[in-house]
Amino acid sequence: MDISKHPIFRPLSWPGHTLKNRLVIAPMSRVSATVDGLATPEMEAYYTAFAKGGFSMIITEGNYTDEVASKSYPHQPGLVSAAHAAAWQPVAEQVKANGALIIAQLMHAGALSQYSRDTLAPSAIQPVGVKMAQYGGTGAYPFPKAMTLADIHTVKEGFVNAAKVALEAGFDGIELHAANGYLLDQFLTPELNVREDQYGGNTGNRFRIVAEIIQAIRAVVPAHFLVGIRLSEGKVNDLKYRWKDGVAMAVEVLEEVRKAAPDFIHIAVQSGEWERDSFYSNGDSYAALAKKITGKVVIANGGMHQPTRAARVLDESHADLLSIGKAALADPAWPLHIQQGTSPLAFHPDMLWPEATIQHTNQIIQSFSVNVL
Ligand SMILES: Cc1cc2nc3c(=O)[nH]c(=O)nc-3n(C[C@H](O)[C@H](O)[C@H](O)COP(=O)(O)O)c2cc1C
Repeated sequence: MDISKHPIFRPLSWPGHTLKNRLVIAPMSRVSATVDGLATPEMEAYYTAFAKGGFSMIITEGNYTDEVASKSYPHQPGLVSAAHAAAWQPVAEQVKANGALIIAQLMHAGALSQYSRDTLAPSAIQPVGVKMAQYGGTGAYPFPKAMTLADIHTVKEGFVNAAKVALEAGFDGIELHAANGYLLDQFLTPELNVREDQYGGNTGNRFRIVAEIIQAIRAVVPAHFLVGIRLSEGKVNDLKYRWKDGVAMAVEVLEEVRKAAPDFIHIAVQSGEWERDSFYSNGDSYAALAKKITGKVVIANGGMHQPTRAARVLDESHADLLSIGKAALADPAWPLHIQQGTSPLAFHPDMLWPEATIQHTNQIIQSFSVNVL
């Protein structure tokens, strides 16, 4: 097969946007911002390389949304203040100048914060597992405080403000991080949310905070500004987690998503084992269900750099777009290299170990004697 005819290179028309191919950068925390959460020139070069390398849409690493308790890690970027907007502005400008859309991921760590000791969560349940060393963490996660209604209000305001700051910075849209075990996913997950008020109990109640955030963001951004959501079953501290009620739960969650009507839905499979970790007993994948139930643009994730898997996901209509994480981190020009028939540099775990910073990855790539774009 002529690789340039692979379905990953088909353009996608989306109301208001045309993407030159189906390749999206998955959000990846790089803990490389200043201590105040400002994006740096190094981050500008890092993100611009993906656009120059042929990706059509870039979703940034998770940005914290308030100074109260949202931060995940030291050196995480934020979208809270005018200074944050000014720092991200050249990044957004360069990515767009090089032909890609740029979306800011908005993230509240909740109980999985590796930053604060006074963590917040829907319920006072200590997370399983230990903090991630490559993001500077050690030991167990603290016992979180169960959020009051006032805390929930503050968190929602943080997300809405962050979306406004992202708009000011020149982003094309935002993605709400409701995946991987962080705060919004904690609300969605029955074992982590045992609240007895309107934010706990049935799926509609557990999704309520997300629906309210989407609605409130829509009210303050223009129609062309994309508002997406990222969902997953697996969690960073519990990669193999699956909904206890399998497909029934996925359908319930997606019915709520349909009502909230985000512009796109991004289904993450952090393990990278898409076939193993995203299918249900009825033969559907989480991504395919998202497409069927919501009718929105769906992004599939989880080892999508494998050409046969990528072709299957697109040809069998599991998703419209594919997000690529580690393979892109190893080779930001992955699309160009595939298109030209040259082998991209493959990901190696040392690129993120012992630290996940951009500087460290670049050093390892250079030690493999490969040019970084
Ligand atoms: C270094 C690193 C940082 C990540 N940070 C985030 C993040 O900030 N937000 C998020 O939703 N997912 C994050 N992820 C998960 C990825 O978006 C993606 O789901 C995962 O790498 C699987 O995709 P892949 O098989 O293409 O690598 C991160 C992954 C890596 C490797």
